[in-house]
Amino acid sequence: MQRIVILTGAGVSAESGLSTFRGGGGLWDDHRVEDVATPEGFAADPDLVHRFYNERRVKARQAKPNAAHDAIARLAQLPNVALTLVTQNVDGLHEAAGSGDVIHMHGALAGALCGACGHRWDAPDAMAKADTCPNCQTPATRPDIVWFGEIPYHMDEIAEALSRADIFAAIGTSGRVYPAAGLVDLARSSGAECHEFNLDASEISRQFHHHHIGPATETVPAWVEGFAK
Ligand code: APR
Repeated sequence: MQRIVILTGAGVSAESGLSTFRGGGGLWDDHRVEDVATPEGFAADPDLVHRFYNERRVKARQAKPNAAHDAIARLAQLPNVALTLVTQNVDGLHEAAGSGDVIHMHGALAGALCGACGHRWDAPDAMAKADTCPNCQTPATRPDIVWFGEIPYHMDEIAEALSRADIFAAIGTSGRVYPAAGLVDLARSSGAECHEFNLDASEISRQFHHHHIGPATETVPAWVEGFAK
């Protein structure tokens, strides 16, 4: 049994037409992180932040999974593979490709959260400042997204999976944001064979034993086929 942990980033959804954050035309070229991806930004202008995520939620719901998402879903089905899929992405493309138990360490556009009582529910296409929580009726709803300065979700579960991993693969991430960028270090300390999939070198490339350079829709299916033999 091959125990594999995969971490995906925005690059895995790029060929589905969803913007990445960094690099030409990234989301952070058009928006200040401080304004739309921090608790302070949300407190200062909740409607601006809701508009930012409403736009991304509609685009994500219209997007289709690509061959990389499909290959990752296939990998999990192989009899000799135990896959833990962790994503930094907030789109639902892994689920749309058939992946189950996706660990969204930065939350998900599909989720809404009440800032007052902590209740979670399925997010409507458009959220607004005046919306009230279906549980406590307080107008304190927010996207269930982990903003800068907040603690990513499921870190214990992720660390546990990495402690037992034979193989770790980072797909389409720039390695710029911790703790996600530090997962490869945990994997290495567990003796895992580490693979990086990217268009070019990332901030953390030197941590990986193997590099698969090219579009994820080509490199990931080729890699997964190797397990199917
Ligand atoms: N195939 C493979 N890699 C790709 C492709 C592709 N088709 N397109 C882009 N990439 C790579 C880029 O080279 C880059 O290294 O994907 C990476 C995307 O990097 P970022 O835009 O920084 O996205 P990500 O690493 O997911 O960002 C991490 O930062 O802003 C926060 O919360 C946000 O989860 C996000 C986190």
